Amino acid sequence: RETPSYAIPLPSALYAPERRNSAGLDLSDENTLRHLADAFLTQAPTSADTQGERITNPADTNDIVGHIRFLSSEETDTAIARADIAFAEWSRAPSDQRALLLERAADALEAETASLMALIIREAGKTLANAVAEIREAVDFLRYYAVRIREQGSQTRPLGPVACISPWNFPLAIFLGQVSAALAAGNTVLAKPAEETPLIAREAVRLLHEAGIPEHVIQLVPGDGRAGAQLVGDTRITAVLFTGSTDVARLIQKQLAGRLNSDGTPVPFIAETGGQNALIVDSSALTEQVVADVLASAFDSAGQRCSALRLLCLQEDSADRVLTMLKGAMQELRTGTPERPDTDVGPVITAEARDMMRAHVDALASQGHRVFQTDLTPEAASGTFFPPTLIEIGSVSDLKKEVFGPVLHVLRYKREAVSDVMKAINATGYALTFGLHSRIDETIETLKKQSHAGNVYINRNLVGAVVGVQPFGGHGLSGTGPKAGGPLYLRRLLSQKAPMEAA
Ligand code: SER
Repeated sequence: RETPSYAIPLPSALYAPERRNSAGLDLSDENTLRHLADAFLTQAPTSADTQGERITNPADTNDIVGHIRFLSSEETDTAIARADIAFAEWSRAPSDQRALLLERAADALEAETASLMALIIREAGKTLANAVAEIREAVDFLRYYAVRIREQGSQTRPLGPVACISPWNFPLAIFLGQVSAALAAGNTVLAKPAEETPLIAREAVRLLHEAGIPEHVIQLVPGDGRAGAQLVGDTRITAVLFTGSTDVARLIQKQLAGRLNSDGTPVPFIAETGGQNALIVDSSALTEQVVADVLASAFDSAGQRCSALRLLCLQEDSADRVLTMLKGAMQELRTGTPERPDTDVGPVITAEARDMMRAHVDALASQGHRVFQTDLTPEAASGTFFPPTLIEIGSVSDLKKEVFGPVLHVLRYKREAVSDVMKAINATGYALTFGLHSRIDETIETLKKQSHAGNVYINRNLVGAVVGVQPFGGHGLSGTGPKAGGPLYLRRLLSQKAPMEAA
């Protein structure tokens, strides 16, 4: 058959050298910071478009980052038809070929780190450190799934056009994580980014196309929930990957339950959703380490990670000591303009999100729960910021809905009640991350076994799982599995063959 148009010559060493995680940038280096500052100043407008939805900067709501036109339902329909046609050729491409194209895109992403950071900071309100981490993770996903498909590719069969529906909190990393897995497996992709952060997704798709992936193999579907629902409901879409809230995952699951794929088979669905993530700290733990890990777990990324710490459980005997030091450390956090190197906490994504957090804190305060809140910097007045906040609660059941921001709930427990606390945490039904700080081996072994969480962290923080090293994802209300950045993820996106010849 003809050589596909996107074919690139295979290097003599067919397999890439052993995969390494991206090194990122060193933000303690003055030259790097100067280079970034220049890139931010000279950042070109993200496009000449002045039509369509206006995307504003959450740190400065007068700053218009760019515009994007949402696709009409007819355009989405055409995009699906094109993906269906493009599948024939893409699915037949050797897995090495697909892997190489993804690796090229990873190299391009690394080469454009500074301008991508500038966009991610303006569009999603990420701090410098978070923006570096985001690009590293995106690069890691591209390279990781490339390596995995080389291993698994020869005895597999892709599914068809796949819908990837991704969130605003990791608008590049999770967007490309889903997309790169689906592409590596040989599927074509309709990618619907979060409506708050479509511009960085558009850049990611540009880089994939420039790397040589054909236009109709990966198509961006900018839109709101209706575009997502159209993709999910279309029988030509053979699988759905979703990261976002548990409520939306339920809606998608219901919609999928009402249809089969065009060949009559059920539709594979991968959902990564929320958490009521807890950290248990007993009195043997090192207070300084606990405080550092709580700050990172609860307030990094302004708490807008599905992995973030929501409930800190402190053994009564040492609770006051930990809380005094924790409150002192919280007061040192700088909440303000995210591109300043000394800022620790940036904005939350929208005014609506901020108002929901306010209402949540006010409701608990009015019920008599003690609230401790830090100060915002004056510049925060121009954006949608929420200060790191700590609220003491009386029982795990006081946690109702996941609060997706820098709000930490604290519960004191008696030493003999630790298993009950663990049971109550499991009983929330969420099972994403769980942490334990203890220097007692028996406690560590027992709670590690008892926790239902997908990612369990001992004597460290709960965030920043590293692709290929700490496969990430939960169970129950937190998602369907398989874990992102882990060896089983691709299996859900292809069918496996087991050919056998008689000897
Ligand atoms: N994977 C991220 C983390 O580990 C959350 O989405 O923090």
